[in-house]
Amino acid sequence: MAILSNETKSIFTLQTDHSMYQMKVDAYGVLLHTYYGEKGTPFDLSYLITYADHGFSGNPYEAGDERTYSLDALPQEYPVYGSGDYRASALKVRYPDGSHACELRYVKHQLQKGKYALPGLPAVYAEKDTPADTLIITLEDTRKSFYVHLYYGVLEDLDLITRSVCIENHGEAPLYLEQVLSTCIDFQHGEYHLHTFYGRHMKERTHQRIPVSHGIHSVGSSRGASSHQHNPFILLTSPQATEDHGECYGLSFLYSGDFLALGSKDQFSQTRILMGIHPDNFCYRLDTGERFYAPETAMAYTSHGMAALSQIYHRAYRHDLCRGRYKTARRPVLLNSWESVYMDFDGKKLVEMAKDAADLGIELFVMDDGWFGKRDRDVSGLGDWHVNEEKLGCGLKGLSDEIHKLGLQFGIWFEPECINEDSDLYRKHPDWVLKVPGKAPVRGRYQLVLDFSREDVRAYILKQICQVLDSARIEYVKWDFNRSISDIYSALLPPERQGEVAHRYILGLYDMLEKLTARYPDLLLEGCSGGGGRFDAGMLYYTPQIWCSDNTDAIDRLSIQYGTSFGYPVSTIGAHVSHCPNDQTGRITPLETRATVAMAGTFGYELDTNEITEEERPVIQQQIQEFKKYYDLIQDGLYYRLTDPDRYPACHCWEFVKPDHSEALLCIVALQIQPNTVRSCIRLKGLSPDKIYMIEGRAYPGSALMNGGYLIPNATSEYESFRIHIIEKNRE
Ligand code: GLA
Repeated sequence: MAILSNETKSIFTLQTDHSMYQMKVDAYGVLLHTYYGEKGTPFDLSYLITYADHGFSGNPYEAGDERTYSLDALPQEYPVYGSGDYRASALKVRYPDGSHACELRYVKHQLQKGKYALPGLPAVYAEKDTPADTLIITLEDTRKSFYVHLYYGVLEDLDLITRSVCIENHGEAPLYLEQVLSTCIDFQHGEYHLHTFYGRHMKERTHQRIPVSHGIHSVGSSRGASSHQHNPFILLTSPQATEDHGECYGLSFLYSGDFLALGSKDQFSQTRILMGIHPDNFCYRLDTGERFYAPETAMAYTSHGMAALSQIYHRAYRHDLCRGRYKTARRPVLLNSWESVYMDFDGKKLVEMAKDAADLGIELFVMDDGWFGKRDRDVSGLGDWHVNEEKLGCGLKGLSDEIHKLGLQFGIWFEPECINEDSDLYRKHPDWVLKVPGKAPVRGRYQLVLDFSREDVRAYILKQICQVLDSARIEYVKWDFNRSISDIYSALLPPERQGEVAHRYILGLYDMLEKLTARYPDLLLEGCSGGGGRFDAGMLYYTPQIWCSDNTDAIDRLSIQYGTSFGYPVSTIGAHVSHCPNDQTGRITPLETRATVAMAGTFGYELDTNEITEEERPVIQQQIQEFKKYYDLIQDGLYYRLTDPDRYPACHCWEFVKPDHSEALLCIVALQIQPNTVRSCIRLKGLSPDKIYMIEGRAYPGSALMNGGYLIPNATSEYESFRIHIIEKNRE
């Protein structure tokens, strides 16, 4: 068992292979947080907690005259608003009498074999070969109205600890949950840096590193989706931490809606991290006997730097979060029609492209937006999920059959959650959208959002999707969502439940995705939200890959994919080779460089095959062969960021290494051409120092490549790239 509780049952120590997490119930029944860090003797670490009279930090009544005991200063496992702790809290409850003051005390705990699951929510699960244990600690408010069940999943081998919270109302009247965050981690000592990933549409997940200073720094989303602007993944590191050294903590939220991630430093220079559903659009009425489950967070710790921390998440998410056939099966190399023809196509044009695609070695043809309803521009048609045969000049089955005859699989685009006012569905059901009575709703991309908190709305859309999927052979679906949510109001809920709509919407989305994946277990689903507007661990439970960004410019993608790689594996990052000049930036980059960058993702193409020149054709064929050859190495290998594209101007380098260290792929994109050349050299990582490796016919000891480095080839043209294969001698 990876969970130890001592004889007095007051200390709980969770252990993974390399980390340890500890809590203690103190004399007043308060659950304190005593340690999270390197694995060691499971000793009671509460000796590190100091008690002093702090003045203006009040004392719980039970402490009597003991002025040195204050929740305002103590490291707590689940701090609650109104307890005398004036820092940011995890829980805020409104009692039936309108008050908020609240205190939580330990009641009991329970140990279980295996990893808990959460009703209706994504959660890390334990594969057959993944040992896992669960601890549930129950606290109760001192007014005896509700329980707080704290869930801990310990996945020892993965070095991952998951957390969730369940609030159970056992009182006599409804409670209003105004804030239920999923995780709090208190650090009594130490200086830290907070790493977050900010951005915007077409520039997602830029890495930002700032010292945690006195006050609060928070990021989050109240856009109804996890958003392009911030990502529900953060790191907390020591100020000295680098890719290779130093203490790093990760916190990842398995949720696709509003979130809050917060780092703060209090009056005693203690650091508190919180993560959970953003309270802005949240107020949940909990009736007597009801339970509310907060989404899961996944925590990881390593003392070996940021690369090692990322690798924990890469492994865990590939192996114990993503599901379905394509978790392990090789994903087909695809051609997507979007940047090729946008909405300007007919069936003939698509079949012509598919013919070219087959000739190039592409395996899946995806018909993106524009095939349904009245949809020649983005102003109309969303909601009418029936094929526009007039536009295509054929039926969907006919088109799919033609494409399959060419030896390709066939995929299709949907945006199930949205609707254009110019659609038959909206004309029939204008009340199905999120819209506040008496106020005109905010539009986004000419569209409104369907009320996915409603079962009837979801059932209708699911039926439409299934009809399409059953009408032809379709092996892939891109599930898009192209706006932020506003006007959060559901026509079916009473006023006191309107604060639940944003969360119920996400539960509705998950419910629908669960039904879809259960009905079509072999379907490859790709998530998308205007590119990477909903790139989060919650979606990965349903869609094993997500379109990373609407920006396909290879040079901009370096930074976007670099930022994404901190919390998510390469196997989940949708990346394509598009045409040049690039549609978003106008930049021209070599075809080989576009492939090098797309290979750090799911790899595919998104260009008009008509535009491919005779010289480019064999190059693309070769790229596809190469990607297939390196597929396992790329998708399952250890991923190393060798440079930071926002800080190192000369070139950007990254590396994939086979877990047995027998093979690696070094990728380099030149960002500058240097006259009168100065050669740069890059130190490789993850090799075995004692092994001999072959690179382009020359032998090098692993130690030389890792300590001395490898000379970066000189770029002779702008943005030239290099893919350098490194293989253990005698395995070539
Ligand atoms: C979004 C997606 C694109 C494409 C378009 C279609 O922007 O991110 O890849 O599918 O929608 O409208």
